[in-house]
Amino acid sequence: MSRRQFQLPDSAESARPKRDVEDTSLVGGSLAERRKHGHRSELNGRFVRDPIFEDDDVEALRAWCDRDDPRPLAIEIGFQRARFAGAWCAANPDARYLGFEVRRKFCEDADAWLVKKGVNNALLALVDARSMLDELVAPESVDILFCFFPDPWWKKKHMKKRLVSRSFAALAHKLLAPGGVLLVKTDVQGYADWAEGELRTVQGWTVTRLTDPGAGLPETQRERRCRLRGLPTWAVIARKEGGPGRLPLPAQSGTLPLLAQSDTTSQLSHEEPAKIPNETEE
Ligand SMILES: C[S@@+](CC[C@H](N)C(=O)[O-])C[C@H]1O[C@@H](n2cnc3c(N)ncnc32)[C@H](O)[C@@H]1O
Repeated sequence: MSRRQFQLPDSAESARPKRDVEDTSLVGGSLAERRKHGHRSELNGRFVRDPIFEDDDVEALRAWCDRDDPRPLAIEIGFQRARFAGAWCAANPDARYLGFEVRRKFCEDADAWLVKKGVNNALLALVDARSMLDELVAPESVDILFCFFPDPWWKKKHMKKRLVSRSFAALAHKLLAPGGVLLVKTDVQGYADWAEGELRTVQGWTVTRLTDPGAGLPETQRERRCRLRGLPTWAVIARKEGGPGRLPLPAQSGTLPLLAQSDTTSQLSHEEPAKIPNETEE
């Protein structure tokens, strides 16, 4: 096992992005640059859309997220091979699921998986969620936002690439419906503490840590690997004020109060899980 150090900023000031999110913090670079110099992905899947290059796909994704649609809307960032998505969509056939993923190969695998599982309430977008969420999703229209096992971006110089940040927290809060929930799961304790601290910079939601980090939801691929290895996981939840929420989490009642903010400022070391060979599932 290799030891990795989850780095924290020297001060709150240095944690602030120096430039807008539309720059080097995005996976794959800025949207404008990619549109200028990149190539269409030419995806053929049933569920997957390419909103960077295809205007029709932007419209299809917008329509899927329409705030006037009475079905609850769940969004997952970083669905990888859609193991969670397949199970969640099957268990919630009356809700809409929208997933974001930055890697084309994962989108293709996920598409095949959802077809195999007979899912018909999902759409997938091949794009960094942070760059297009605001464009695709109206304010106060998301019931649950899942961020499962985001890449830790261990080093200080890569911190700006971390999915959970104070600007992401503000965006998530804006997009959540009253009573809506943002759920972050991680196997990096330092990331859980970091996420708590970043989420707490936003007013108008309650941030807690779940006693059951599984949250009563289907397992993600990473979560399953952690369980098989006997490795711990953590879950942080932010619930927006103003309503009961339409998609309650089974484990939401068993929450612990947050760590004090000052607890999040120390540098935390973490035993990185050893690489696990791709296991075959089902
Ligand atoms: C460590 S994996 C976790 C995968 C899955 N959520 C799980 O729990 O098994 C992180 C995934 O998020 C994707 N990802 C990272 N940043 C992203 C972003 N900004 N928008 C969409 N996907 C992202 C990566 O390509 C990768 O598939």
